[in-house]
Amino acid sequence: MKLTIIKFETIASTNDEAIRLAKLGVDEGMCITSRSQTNGRGRNGRIWVSPSDSGLYFSIVLRPKIEPKFISLLTLMTAVAVYETLKNTFSLSPDIKWVNDIHINGRKICGILAEAFETEIGIAVVVGIGINLNSQNFPVEFCEIATSILSESGEKPDIEILLQNLTKQFLKLYENFDPKTIREMWAERSSYAFGKSVSVVLNDETIYGTTRGLEENGALRVEIENNEIVIVQAGDVQSLRSSLI
Ligand code: BTN
Repeated sequence: MKLTIIKFETIASTNDEAIRLAKLGVDEGMCITSRSQTNGRGRNGRIWVSPSDSGLYFSIVLRPKIEPKFISLLTLMTAVAVYETLKNTFSLSPDIKWVNDIHINGRKICGILAEAFETEIGIAVVVGIGINLNSQNFPVEFCEIATSILSESGEKPDIEILLQNLTKQFLKLYENFDPKTIREMWAERSSYAFGKSVSVVLNDETIYGTTRGLEENGALRVEIENNEIVIVQAGDVQSLRSSLI
């Protein structure tokens, strides 16, 4: 896949622009980045605060030729690519929180928003990645739950090098996409994969249990009372501190 990168000074949302272009028929590999976003979007309708130069705001168009049931693994694959990039480029020690948040020391450094949709030439997926570069411009309410490369490494990251390394990692995994390998790589890099005590907020209830690995499509298996396994396809998963169990 050949990458084409378009850079904006400011834009509403790099995901929205990538979706617009995908619907017009651009090839996969079209990437959008912007120094700031005025309507950055997170998962579950949340906003992604995107001040100028405080983050990498990046979206890529994909036209995956994979079985539909494995499309959800693209988001786990992206988390692995970000994990490897942060580890190798900045010597950081990240963790992947199910399903695709990247944390460092319990604080979020990266969020991923993958959106699949139909276009005239088949299914497209836009993968949006937001990585916090420096948290100095964060609203105060984010300071306790978010972190950045600058805060964790003490170095102001070079956004071009970050982008280069991230796209390289991403391409390597995407071009050799293999569901089993992605699940294994994800599980090796996530403290949430096995034996983690968690609460999961589902539509109308909260369940408490212990994680027991991934389903074929990346859904999380959580063991609750009576050895019953709940398959979590979507939901807010939180780690429970051992003192609470
Ligand atoms: C989340 O954790 O809720 C996902 C956040 C995804 C944010 C990125 S920033 C680049 C791209 N453009 C958007 O509007 N959102 C994604």
